Amino acid sequence: MNKNETIFVAGATGMVGSAIIRKLVANGFTSVIGTYRNRKPSFDHPAVSFFSVDLMDTQAVAAFYKEHKPVYVFDAAAKVGGIVANNLYRAQFLYENLVIQNNIIHQAYVSGVKKLLFLGSSCIYPKMAPQPIKEEYLLTNTLEYTNEPYAIAKIAGLKMCENYNLQYGTNFIAAMPTNLYGPEDNYDLQNSHVLPALIRKFHEAKVNNKPDVTIWGTGSPLREFMHVDDLAAASLYLMENYNENQFVNIGWGKDISIKDLAFLVKEIIDFKGELVFDTTKPDGTPRKLLDVSLLNAIGFVPQISLREGIADAYQDFLKKFA
Ligand SMILES: NC(=O)c1ccc[n+]([C@@H]2O[C@H](COP(=O)([O-])OP(=O)(O)OC[C@H]3O[C@@H](n4cnc5c(N)ncnc54)[C@H](OP(=O)(O)O)[C@@H]3O)[C@@H](O)[C@H]2O)c1
Repeated sequence: MNKNETIFVAGATGMVGSAIIRKLVANGFTSVIGTYRNRKPSFDHPAVSFFSVDLMDTQAVAAFYKEHKPVYVFDAAAKVGGIVANNLYRAQFLYENLVIQNNIIHQAYVSGVKKLLFLGSSCIYPKMAPQPIKEEYLLTNTLEYTNEPYAIAKIAGLKMCENYNLQYGTNFIAAMPTNLYGPEDNYDLQNSHVLPALIRKFHEAKVNNKPDVTIWGTGSPLREFMHVDDLAAASLYLMENYNENQFVNIGWGKDISIKDLAFLVKEIIDFKGELVFDTTKPDGTPRKLLDVSLLNAIGFVPQISLREGIADAYQDFLKKFA
């Protein structure tokens, strides 16, 4: 990648998009353009220009590509949420994600973009997939129903890339990250993921001198977490080094129980109270771990440990909410 070619980051004010922009700037790219819809940019750098574009508006997306002629595209725009939101806003999760990604991917083809990276999610895999989950397990069984609309949209996205490459000879690659956390995460307890929810709960319990924090379920499910800066580094690495039609899992290939995670967050936040596990609440899937042999074979290994990453995320949380 040439340092002054135009790079378009869609979803530029989201957790993933903003991490990709920070990484591009840190690596000396000088012509970065990012789009957002509601959340205004907080990052200011001469190499980056932000534009407000509704990515569901096909004409607006076509006009954006025509005007800016990006050479590379990182697609980090999506309607994202936790279990409750995914289950409640099923139609929106399906429709909005399909439309956004169709616009970004198809218009990238129309405007002759050199390379595009589509970001999906590990929820594309069957609910009962063997662990750790290899890329080849895609479409081998039924999905988890609560987030099926989101997963179907993401599967359609990675298949768009694959089939545009096959029919049109494009170079559109796709990556499926594990659970992410870090700066710009969503801390709204109504629709946040488990790690930001734990950070918020422990922080609020600490400042309010609460005697305990309640965790849903037994704490035994195993999950994998990656700092979003590692994901941004992996995304740039793939953009620079990977040109195959096979999508790639992105993660650590290591997991932690929710119980151990809760104790780690408690320690980092320095909450002195107790942990209570509400075992009347459901646990969900017992284990969800990505097989990252392909990512490692391509040459990428994440660097930010969970302890270091959570400490960083907590500092970002404090800046915004304390
Ligand atoms: N968070 C995770 O744990 C995780 C894990 C695996 C994969 N991923 C993937 O990473 C990608 C980004 O996730 P994220 O966590 O960064 O989500 P996020 O923080 O919610 O960011 C999503 C971005 O998409 C933009 N967007 C949504 N609808 C739009 C529209 N109609 N027009 C223009 N922009 C729109 C949002 O802009 P506004 O906020 O301004 O609307 C925001 O900039 C997604 O594809 C997701 O599947 C995330």
